[in-house]
Amino acid sequence: MHHFQVRNGEMHCEGVPLRRIARDVGTPVYVYSHATLAHHYRVFDEAFGGIPHIICFSMKSNSNGSVIRTFTDLGSGVDIVSGGELARAVAAGAPPGKIVYSGVGKKVPEIEEALRRGILMFNVESREELETIDAVAGRMRVRAPIAIRVNPDVDPKTHPYISTGLKKNKFGIRIGQAMKDYEWAAGRRHIEVVGVDCHIGSQLTEVAPFVDAAARVRRVVDGLLRKGMPIRFVDIGGGLGIRYSDEMPPDPGVYAAAVTEAFRGLPVTLVLEPGRVLVGNAGVLLTEVLYTKPIPSPAGRGKKHFFIVDAAMNDLARPSLYGSYHAILPVGKARRGTVTADVVGPICESGDFLAKDRAMPPCRGGDLLAVMSAGAYGFSMSSNYNTRPRAAEVMVSGTRFEVVRVRETVRELYRGERFASFLSRRRTGKG
Ligand code: LLP
Repeated sequence: MHHFQVRNGEMHCEGVPLRRIARDVGTPVYVYSHATLAHHYRVFDEAFGGIPHIICFSMKSNSNGSVIRTFTDLGSGVDIVSGGELARAVAAGAPPGKIVYSGVGKKVPEIEEALRRGILMFNVESREELETIDAVAGRMRVRAPIAIRVNPDVDPKTHPYISTGLKKNKFGIRIGQAMKDYEWAAGRRHIEVVGVDCHIGSQLTEVAPFVDAAARVRRVVDGLLRKGMPIRFVDIGGGLGIRYSDEMPPDPGVYAAAVTEAFRGLPVTLVLEPGRVLVGNAGVLLTEVLYTKPIPSPAGRGKKHFFIVDAAMNDLARPSLYGSYHAILPVGKARRGTVTADVVGPICESGDFLAKDRAMPPCRGGDLLAVMSAGAYGFSMSSNYNTRPRAAEVMVSGTRFEVVRVRETVRELYRGERFASFLSRRRTGKG
């Protein structure tokens, strides 16, 4: 469900025509629907209504402050993976007591800051990290709340780059080893064992891998409780998929029922780390067609077209990086007919595309296109490649829209650079 609909031949986000946003803010621009974000959060939250739970929005999927605040206003916590995300989450008003911190490479200053802030727990991914957290907490004379991220060796059946719960992946600690590490941790004065954590991958479209992983995590929790460890939190990560084209991911109710079942009867609070399922379909990337050019079809029949648009792989990396599909729809009335097109950006790489061999209505320079389902891992993965300022971000609520991140300026991109003193002292132009 989302609030991007065509009305009178014009695509709207809630009550606002996308054309108006493009005119006022320029393109490329990410547009988020507040009503869609809030709806997704509520549906997810209600799905887990039968069990004590905390939703920690996985902000790597979309780190915009207004998006984070949309969720924290509804009671959400945040799942973070860096000191940078901690700072942003706190700046957006996230309660530290609902922040969980995952990731294989936490640095000492990041651990210190998280301890100073008093986060809910560290999801620890190696024995050495556990030892470091113990040492840092000892120096600060505090106790660090931890869960061990167990690697259940379950195949999530998703893209290999976003599978995390197989034993060959860099994430988590093997279940067998985890029991030993828990015992070690339980004996440390500056560590407080509070939970068990697991996350097996992203864009999962079946419920079975979640059920398998949950069953394995349950066995770990049972074992720890038997040993007298006061496990209060079971974090089952994120990963629920969305529909980009014809996927049929389980809806949150089915997912929640399956996961909840695995932990029935345990005196624990579930921690969920959804990202994509909350934000994916709540955002589009709005882009303008700059030029079109025909080329002979490689198949030898008919013509193929390039639609050259002003958004590129630096704005939305998913198609280039994972071969991901995003629907691309005209914002205005579609012209009659269908052509085969590659939708490409201005970047100097053949890997710079948003769609390949796509059946689309014909386009002309000046047309606006909406790249759908771009709310997750869109802006947050964008870069400045080719010295392209990152896109603006807009949030819509009803008939209002506001810029929630201004477009970067070119000057900002090289502000931190210095000319080495051993280079010529040429006078430079004003940038
Ligand atoms: N928790 C942890 C520990 C994670 O690593 C992730 C995602 C999540 C939660 C949230 O997963 P979600 O609910 O969004 O599936 N850039 C890729 C996705 C990378 C996912 C990384 N981890 C993409 O564009 O598909």
